[in-house]
Amino acid sequence: MASTSDGVGERPPLIELRGITKRFPGVLANDNIDLDVSAGEVHTLFGENGAGKSTLMRVLYGFYRPDAGEVRLDGKAVEIRSPAAAIALGIGMIHQHFLLVPTLTVAENVSLGLRSTRGPLKDIGRVSARIEELSSAYGLEVKPSAFVWQLSVGERQRVEIVKALYRDSRLLILDEPTAVLTPGEVEDLFRVLKQMAADGRGLIFISHKIREVFALSDRITVLRAGRKVGTVRPCEVTHDQLAEMMVGRQIAAEGAPSGSVPGAPRLEVRDLLVKGDRGTAAVRGLSLQVRSGEIVGIAGVSGNGQRELGEAIACLRPALRGAVTIEGTELTGKSAAAARQAGLGYVPEERMRDGVIGDFSVAENLMLVGSDKPALLRFGFLRRSAVRAMARELVSTFDVRTPGIDTPTRNLSGGNIQKLILARELSGKPKVLLVAQPTRGIDVSAARYIHDRLRAEARNGTAVLIVSEDLDEVMAISDRILVMFEGAIIGEAAAGSATREAIGLMMAGVRASPTSLNGNAPAPASAEVAPGLERGQVEPAASPANPFAPGTGSMPGTGSTTGSGNMEA
Ligand SMILES: Nc1ncnc2c1ncn2[C@@H]1O[C@H](COP(=O)(O)OP(=O)(O)O)[C@@H](O)[C@H]1O
Ligand SMILES: [Mg+2]
Repeated sequence: MASTSDGVGERPPLIELRGITKRFPGVLANDNIDLDVSAGEVHTLFGENGAGKSTLMRVLYGFYRPDAGEVRLDGKAVEIRSPAAAIALGIGMIHQHFLLVPTLTVAENVSLGLRSTRGPLKDIGRVSARIEELSSAYGLEVKPSAFVWQLSVGERQRVEIVKALYRDSRLLILDEPTAVLTPGEVEDLFRVLKQMAADGRGLIFISHKIREVFALSDRITVLRAGRKVGTVRPCEVTHDQLAEMMVGRQIAAEGAPSGSVPGAPRLEVRDLLVKGDRGTAAVRGLSLQVRSGEIVGIAGVSGNGQRELGEAIACLRPALRGAVTIEGTELTGKSAAAARQAGLGYVPEERMRDGVIGDFSVAENLMLVGSDKPALLRFGFLRRSAVRAMARELVSTFDVRTPGIDTPTRNLSGGNIQKLILARELSGKPKVLLVAQPTRGIDVSAARYIHDRLRAEARNGTAVLIVSEDLDEVMAISDRILVMFEGAIIGEAAAGSATREAIGLMMAGVRASPTSLNGNAPAPASAEVAPGLERGQVEPAASPANPFAPGTGSMPGTGSTTGSGNMEA
């Protein structure tokens, strides 16, 4: 785990941060941080939520003035007082939330903010021509005349990258760019980023996903609680060592899927139709079944109806058609309390909003439901001592880190709130447990703990349904994987045998033939998305161009194992 600043050569690094310190009221977000990035390097900033990654990059991009420290560009100290100043120095940043104007075209967005004596929007023809050049040089599919509102999230991100290329950024900062992408899109992005580095640009990539960090980085700087832990090369550390640098202690190994033999069906969803907040159908005729003792994981890019599905099962959102049943008991049209009565445990996605009452104490939140348990009652009233004893027991078995059971719940970290909700839901001995985004925003150790609890719960016979945008998580804990796309289940795979590529294709809307899901079979041959078709539209077999296959179609090789033209497997 040697700290490295070698291999940089005699030239000064492209960018150097020296002793950067940034305070917010009550938080030391960056504590005396050094970082250097060379031309031609992909340098990853790695750390848990709240480690200080975004803050450090906002200092570099001129959003924040540091309380101490300096920035050097080509060895010379510079003051970056605003994002405009950063851009003028050749620094670009792609934020987690894109800063594009939906009602303008791609070319108009790219030209926004460019200094031009003729006004930013007058040179559109020239801008468009340059965009075409850049997009073909980098294999970035972007149409200058398309309106941004028409584009998928992945396409919008490509526009942001083209914008940076257009400005000829020498240093590009990408803040968690893969959070919103399918695995296929991630591979495409990495190919482009590697090409940009090969052109001599410097890249700073922010991530907390270990697999991605190893796939892309030349060097990795780990931040923890505002401090720099160290800088390493991927070849110097194992995945677990890097994870331990991130969390600062040893972490338990991720277990295998529960492996229990499933029993009778417990949860059944039939032909469910649910509206989203915008009034359009978010869940479109979805059916699924979860059996006693199995963990079924729903994978998918966020926004494909997962949240609405969970809320409909929990009776927090009405179903317009179809049925949800637990062991034959109909839930549709019932209240959330009735769903609980029928045996549903529910860990919602919006934990602070739907899962706990922040001002209530830990003990009160643990007792929010299930306070009708006989052991806790005397003459119909809660027995205070029994309630407190039970709260203490749950806090200790579920390892909820809290100063005490009377602490207001809002003071707990996200991981501990998640453990609290899980403790409460499991103490009700549910027949079916639905967990939305089990470990989003949670540190690695708490996440592994939660995974273990879910596996144990399945082994005890509970039917467990998890919905997660994190494919690594779905693959780690599910016995069976369903992929959700545009409100329906587009495919299914058994744990252990499904390849990441096959699932990734389904997440992108490519329907796969059952045989191609398992083993190391190549790309699904039964259905491919042809260029020109919209996402989600699927064309019948033997389409000539598979845009996901290396060397064919309009997206060049992604290095994935989805072989082209190999249809006989
Ligand atoms: N604008 C802000 N005001 C106050 N506190 C902030 C602000 N931005 C970030 N923080 C705090 O600074 C710390 C680091 O946050 P951040 O840089 O966003 O971490 P990361 O990007 O690694 O998740 C966190 O404790 C966060 O709550
Ligand atoms: Mg951040």
